[in-house]
Amino acid sequence: MRMLEQDTAHWAGLGFLLDTYGMDLSDTISRYLQPASSSATSSTSEHRSWALITGASDGIGVSFAHELASEGFNNILHGRSPTKLATVETALKAQYPHISTRLFVLDAYPCSVPAIDDYVRGLAKDGLCIRVLVNNIGGGALVSPTFQPLAQRTAEEVQKLFDLNVGFPTLLTRALLPVMQEPSLVLNLGSFVSHIPGPWMTVYAGSKAFNMSWSRSLWIELRAGGKDVEVMGLVVGEVQSGGHPGPVGLVMCSSRTLARSALDKVGCGRHTVAPWWRHAAILAAVLCLPEALLNWSMVRTTRGMMEEEKRLLEVDKRNL
Ligand SMILES: NC(=O)c1ccc[n+]([C@@H]2O[C@H](COP(=O)([O-])OP(=O)(O)OC[C@H]3O[C@@H](n4cnc5c(N)ncnc54)[C@H](OP(=O)(O)O)[C@@H]3O)[C@@H](O)[C@H]2O)c1
Repeated sequence: MRMLEQDTAHWAGLGFLLDTYGMDLSDTISRYLQPASSSATSSTSEHRSWALITGASDGIGVSFAHELASEGFNNILHGRSPTKLATVETALKAQYPHISTRLFVLDAYPCSVPAIDDYVRGLAKDGLCIRVLVNNIGGGALVSPTFQPLAQRTAEEVQKLFDLNVGFPTLLTRALLPVMQEPSLVLNLGSFVSHIPGPWMTVYAGSKAFNMSWSRSLWIELRAGGKDVEVMGLVVGEVQSGGHPGPVGLVMCSSRTLARSALDKVGCGRHTVAPWWRHAAILAAVLCLPEALLNWSMVRTTRGMMEEEKRLLEVDKRNL
């Protein structure tokens, strides 16, 4: 049994190396940059392909918006802060004057099904050619403290982590899929923690594992139904962002690098990809370790982070 577990781990590691080096890149993101079938001759920018990016007011979401705009996609920028979204929109318009933008302002917590459905109905009514959805919103640090034993979490914190990481992306995708025009693309942001779940972040780790399993299941389902929709789960390591500041280096890339690497993997034929090559290599190596060693190391590193976070929260409290 132990041998089998170890073999499985090795294969998982090899899978991630294949994701980086062994993929067929004959299709690219430009496949999704087509005018609406009903307006193939129209040259107005409104009729070009649209991408909807959730959590587009900061971090990786902003970078996806820029990278997609640089490819020629119109952008629907989702977020909860109209001011932050307007700043992103102004920067996009200055850099890519040929694209159109719209803002989708909605707090994803608590997740409101009528609000999501209403907004999507409006998009359908306007006849936008939506071909790309980036389910970027999420994170573990959207509740404070980030690291906490499950039994000490409030029910509200648990619900918030579910809503932001699972509920909102699932319900938005459910509403948007019938409105999107084929061929279309859905990208779901995951995390290393879906493959290496550590302690004191159980809800976040579980949610991110859901994101990956859900991506695969959805892609199979849509293909079985004859739909031309590509669904890809992105396994993300450390990325510099609004919610995760830190210096870019050996293991941490910039949000732009992550978004560009992800778009470069579109069409590779895999449902789960670690977009940045160094993240892929790290994950491949880590997944080859014996599980007991991995667990021991996760306890050590996460405990360190939890204690540091506790110390910083105490300092904040004293300074109030
Ligand atoms: N950065 C990393 O190291 C890392 C690692 C692994 C996985 N990921 C994944 O990558 C994705 C993006 O992470 P990030 O680091 O770029 O995050 P971030 O910098 O914290 O940005 C999160 C985005 O989500 C929005 N948001 C948060 N709560 C919201 C709410 N209640 N309603 C509507 N919008 C809300 C934020 O809006 P505001 O601007 O209003 O706050 C912001 O636009 C997440 O799914 C995360 O799990 C990130």
